[in-house]
Amino acid sequence: MLPKTVKRICCIGAGYVGGPTCAVIAKQNPDIQVTVVDLSEARIAAWKSTALPIFEPDLYEIVEVARDGTDGRRPNLHFSTDIATAIDEADLIFIAVNTPTKTAGLGAGKASNLAYVESAARMIAEAATSDKIVVEKSTVPCGTADSLRTIFAALAPHLAFDILSNPEFLAEGTAINDLLNPDRILIGSLKDAKSKSAAEALAQVYNWVPRNRIVTVNIWSSELAKLAANCMLAQRISSINSLSAICEATGAEIEELAQVVGLDVRIGGRMLKASAGFGGSCFKKDVLSLVYIAESLHLEEVALHWKSVVDLNEYQKGRFARRITRALHNTLANKRIAILGWAYKKNTRDTRESAAITIAGQLIAEGAQLAIYDPLVSEKQIFDDLESACPNASSSVKVYPDASAACIDACAVVIMTEWDEFKTDYAGSPTFGGMANSSTDDHHLTSTSTSASSDSGIDMQDDPSEKSAVLPAPGIDDNPNYSTKRIDWRHIAAVVRRPRLVFDGRNVVDSDMLASLGFRVQSIGKADVF
Ligand code: UDX
Ligand code: UDX
Repeated sequence: MLPKTVKRICCIGAGYVGGPTCAVIAKQNPDIQVTVVDLSEARIAAWKSTALPIFEPDLYEIVEVARDGTDGRRPNLHFSTDIATAIDEADLIFIAVNTPTKTAGLGAGKASNLAYVESAARMIAEAATSDKIVVEKSTVPCGTADSLRTIFAALAPHLAFDILSNPEFLAEGTAINDLLNPDRILIGSLKDAKSKSAAEALAQVYNWVPRNRIVTVNIWSSELAKLAANCMLAQRISSINSLSAICEATGAEIEELAQVVGLDVRIGGRMLKASAGFGGSCFKKDVLSLVYIAESLHLEEVALHWKSVVDLNEYQKGRFARRITRALHNTLANKRIAILGWAYKKNTRDTRESAAITIAGQLIAEGAQLAIYDPLVSEKQIFDDLESACPNASSSVKVYPDASAACIDACAVVIMTEWDEFKTDYAGSPTFGGMANSSTDDHHLTSTSTSASSDSGIDMQDDPSEKSAVLPAPGIDDNPNYSTKRIDWRHIAAVVRRPRLVFDGRNVVDSDMLASLGFRVQSIGKADVF
């Protein structure tokens, strides 16, 4: 059976997965018309504008070419809220809606909520007037394709729907590179000739990917493989984080441990970066989904094994918050703490499940006053996140437009996201000027405001932001050099309170370098040296 040639694609869900994936598919297939649809008018309007709804390095350049035809080609990437028309016109439909954890009913707190996937299937069944290939892009539990098949059979029995699983493995912050150079494209289908032909039609859409990286498997394997991949990645992080606790108690160093362990090619070095905890919309949700699947199958030991990955992550976040509290004499009442970074990882403004949210909540519960800075995340987003995590926290929080302002009079600086901006490698920095080679002598610190206060335990006084002479940093979107921009740690040394505590939740700074500026740095997986 010859595979159908896909000429029109519809993607339901213009989110972190649907948007970038379809932008790249459109860019690489000028002859395929790709329409991304969404229920949210605001999101679609943003995709049509110059201010895309998500930040992803290199995404705008791809969108411009495919959506606006900036390289002289005919535009073939479209965004619309007319879901029914886009469905009916398409040969192939991606379902890329979100699949959050259920908050109520059977499996609440663990199972994936498939309501949006089901609603997308119903829309397809109602709007389609011809046969379609329907592709699960969303991460779904094993067996979801069967449910979709039942829906189509009930609502549109006169049409033929080939259901495929084609989960997306992109990571935020590197999505465009992940899409252009994927490790693998996974396509799951039934084993009959018609399903295999549909799988081949989808494989041809990925024309830029070497054929040996396109893996075709049965549909249940494909659904489960995506969950399994995320769970095993999360498990590596929890494993290294568990070892970081031992390191902190013994004098072993987690970075050295990870290096040595990772040199074993059977293990490999990636996803072994100890941190204050993993975040993002996928890891926790997918591990809990697997836990629920195992429980539903009465595989208690399997469920317990995977549940420990999430439990360890919660433990790691709590451990970090307790370490900060302990270093500040077990009381944070009215102490100002600067939080650098709010996104769950660098190069995204996504904050879903960010470790910063939990840790901030725990510090606020101890009475801290937080001064937060993130290069990309908006003040509104930070307050929205806090509102849902710890209501009434807003009186304990201020958001600042630059790191220096957030750090003024801070009893501790806490790094929560590994933004390059926080690193201490000043070479080539366009915004750090000649600071790299200047004196690190405490007495020569330049200060635009106060000199360092004398004690980390002093109560907060009046709003210290007024003391800042540092201009707000340009938005990262406007600044093509954002990856080389660095904060001025010398300046920060001059404005924080002594003993200049830094808690590095991402092991992003060179602690010796900061020690030479007078800081006391506590890193993940490294014993305190003072
Ligand atoms: C994706 C997934 O597909 C999820 O299964 C995976 O685990 C993580 O990545 P993501 O792209 O991050 O989700 O979700 P989100 O950014 O929230 O985008 C989903 C979009 O679907 C939203 O814009 C939402 O408005 C839209 N949507 C949701 C619909 O258009 N229709 C619906 O019925 C529900
Ligand atoms: C993840 C998977 O990597 C991707 O394949 C899948 O499609 C979606 O889920 P994402 O959540 O975007 O991607 O980012 P990832 O780079 O995996 O990081 C997730 C979290 O783990 C972040 O909070 C990150 O800071 C943390 N992390 C990552 C660590 O703490 N240590 C590491 O070594 C790697």
